[in-house]
Amino acid sequence: MKQRLLWLLFVSQVFAEKPSVIIVGAGVSGISAAVKLIENGITNIKIFEAEDRIGGRIHTVEFGDNFIDMGAQYCHGENVVYDTVKNLDLLEHAELFSAPKMYYSNGSHLQSQLIQDLETVVTNYDRDINRTKGVSLGEAFLEKYQNTILDKYKNDPETHKLASDGLIFAHSTILMHEGAFHWSRPASGRHYKPVKGDQMMVWKKRGYDMILDVLLKRYPDPSQKIPIEEKLFLKKKVTKISWSGTPVVELSDGTTHKADHVIVTPSVGVLTHEDLFDPVVPPRKQEAIKSMGFDGIIKIILYFPEKWWHDSDSTFFFLWDRRDLEGVTKEFSEGPNSWVTNLVALVRVPSNPHVLIGWVSGGLIPEMEKLPLDVIKKGSMFVIRKFLGRDYNITEPKAVLRSDWHNNPNFRGTYSYEKNGYFEEEVHYQDHLAEPLTHGTTPVVLFAGEATHPTHYSTVHGAIESGRREADRIIALYP
Ligand SMILES: Cc1cc2nc3c(=O)[nH]c(=O)nc-3n(C[C@H](O)[C@H](O)[C@H](O)COP(=O)(O)OP(=O)(O)OC[C@H]3O[C@@H](n4cnc5c(N)ncnc54)[C@H](O)[C@@H]3O)c2cc1C
Ligand SMILES: *[C@@H]1O[C@H](CO)[C@@H](O)[C@H](O)[C@H]1NC(C)=O
Ligand SMILES: *[C@@H]1O[C@H](CO)[C@@H](O)[C@H](O)[C@H]1NC(C)=O
Ligand SMILES: *[C@@H]1O[C@H](CO)[C@@H](O)[C@H](O)[C@H]1NC(C)=O
Repeated sequence: MKQRLLWLLFVSQVFAEKPSVIIVGAGVSGISAAVKLIENGITNIKIFEAEDRIGGRIHTVEFGDNFIDMGAQYCHGENVVYDTVKNLDLLEHAELFSAPKMYYSNGSHLQSQLIQDLETVVTNYDRDINRTKGVSLGEAFLEKYQNTILDKYKNDPETHKLASDGLIFAHSTILMHEGAFHWSRPASGRHYKPVKGDQMMVWKKRGYDMILDVLLKRYPDPSQKIPIEEKLFLKKKVTKISWSGTPVVELSDGTTHKADHVIVTPSVGVLTHEDLFDPVVPPRKQEAIKSMGFDGIIKIILYFPEKWWHDSDSTFFFLWDRRDLEGVTKEFSEGPNSWVTNLVALVRVPSNPHVLIGWVSGGLIPEMEKLPLDVIKKGSMFVIRKFLGRDYNITEPKAVLRSDWHNNPNFRGTYSYEKNGYFEEEVHYQDHLAEPLTHGTTPVVLFAGEATHPTHYSTVHGAIESGRREADRIIALYP
C-alpha cells in the first residue's frame, strides 16, 4: 500500500514536470508560440533567432517623418490581429487603393471604360477566375481577360492595343499579390480564405511591429510584459536539428542544445534551401515543402521633403505601352535589362506623409535586390517622371530604402503560395507541413509559421494562429 502510494507520487511528479522547448525563429509565429507556452506555465524555453532582431517578416523601421514597414503592412480583415488590438485604437482603414490613378508610359492619365474594366478584372481576379486542376493562375487569368476585356474591345484597334498592353500591367499586379516571379507558377486553385471585414487596415502608430508589443504585453501597460528577454538569443542561427533521439539543436557558433520539443518556424524558402534535419524529414513533408512557392516582391521606399502629389492622390498605377517597354533600355540602361518596367505602383503611406512606396514584382527581383541604392533611386525617378512628369512637378527624393527579402538567407522570399502542378481541392499541403515529427505518438519536432496554415498562409494572422496551435500541441501533453 505504502509502496503504491510512493509510486503514484513518483508518477504524478514525472508527469507534472514541465518540458523544455526550443523555438527556432523569433518571427511572429515563434513569438506567439512562446507567449502561449509561458502563459501556460511552460517557461523552460530558448528561442534562437538568426537575425539581430525579433519580428522576422514584420520589420518596422524609422524613416521619413515616422516609421515604415519593410515587410508586412496591412491587416487583412477582422482576424486574430484585429481581435488582439481592437480595443486599443491602433488600426485604421487605408484609403489607398480606393481611387487609383492609371498612367500610361506616354505620360497620359488614362480614364475610360476600358481602364475601369481593367481595374475591376485585376482587383477581382481571385474571385472570378476558373480554378482548374493543373491550370496555372496565369492561364486562368488569361481566359478571363480574353472573355471580359480583349473580346469586348476587339473592334476598336486603338482601345484593343491598350487592352493588350493592360495584360502586362495585370501580370505585374497579380505577381505583387502572389509574391511569385511569374504567373505560370501559382496554381489557379487555392485554399486561401479571406477573413471578413476591411481588407486594408494600417497601423496608426509606428507600424506592424505594434502587434509584437501587444502580443508580448509591452503595450499598453509595460509592467505586464511577458519576460522573454532571458529566453531569447539573437544572432543565433540553427544549422542542424537532430531528432532521432531527444532533439538536439546545433547553432552556427558550434554549440548544441537539447530540448524535449523543438518548434521550427523558418520560411518555406529557408526549409527548401537548407538541410536542417538529421535524419531528413519524411517524403510526405518533403513533398509538402515542394508544393509551396516562395519567390518575392520588393518595396522601394522614397522620402520627398517636398511633396509633389495632391492630397487627394492615393495610388498611381503604371501601364506600359509595349513599344516603350521594348525601347526602355535606350532611355535607362543601368541595371539588369529593363528592370524599371517592373515598378507597377506607387502608394502613399497614411502615417508618413512625405513617403511613397513603390511596389516591384517579377523575376528580376533577385538581381534588383543587389542593385546599389542610387541606381534604384535613379530608375524609380526615371519611371515616375516618365509617367507623371507631364501632370506633376516631380521633386527629388532625399532618402531611399529597398527591401531585400529574397537575398536574405534567413528568409529567401516574401510569402508562400500554392504552386501549379500540386494543387488539389482535397489536399492541404500546409497541414502536411504542420504535422510534427514524432517518437511513437509524442511530437518532438513541431512546425509553425505562415506556410503551415491551411487557409491563412502568407499572412501575419496565419502565422500567429500557427504558433499558438503548436504551443497548444505541447501544452496538451502536460495536463
Ligand atoms: C514585403 C512583405 C509584405 C508583406 N505584407 C503583408 C501584409 O500586408 N499583411 C500580412 O498579413 N502579411 C504580410 N506579409 C507576410 C507576413 O509578414 C508573414 O506571413 C509573417 O510575418 C510570417 O511570420 P513567420 O513567423 O511565419 O515567419 P518569419 O517572420 O519569417 O519568422 C521566422 C524567423 O526565423 C528566423 N530564422 C530563419 N532561419 C533560421 C535559422 N536557421 N535559425 C534561427 N532563426 C532562423 C528568421 O530570421 C525569422 O525571424 C508580408 C511579407 C513581406 C515580406
Ligand atoms: C497617350 O496614349 C493614350 C492611349 O492611346 C491616348 O489617348 C493619349 O492621347 C496619348 N497621349 C499622348 C500625349 O500622346
Ligand atoms: C470558365 O469556364 C467556362 C466553361 O469552360 C466558361 O464558359 C467561362 O467563360 C469561364 N469563365 C471565365 C471567368 O473564364
Ligand atoms: C509646375 O511648375 C511650373 C513653374 O513653377 C508651373 O507653371 C506649372 O503650373 C507647374 N505644373 C504643375 C502640374 O503643377
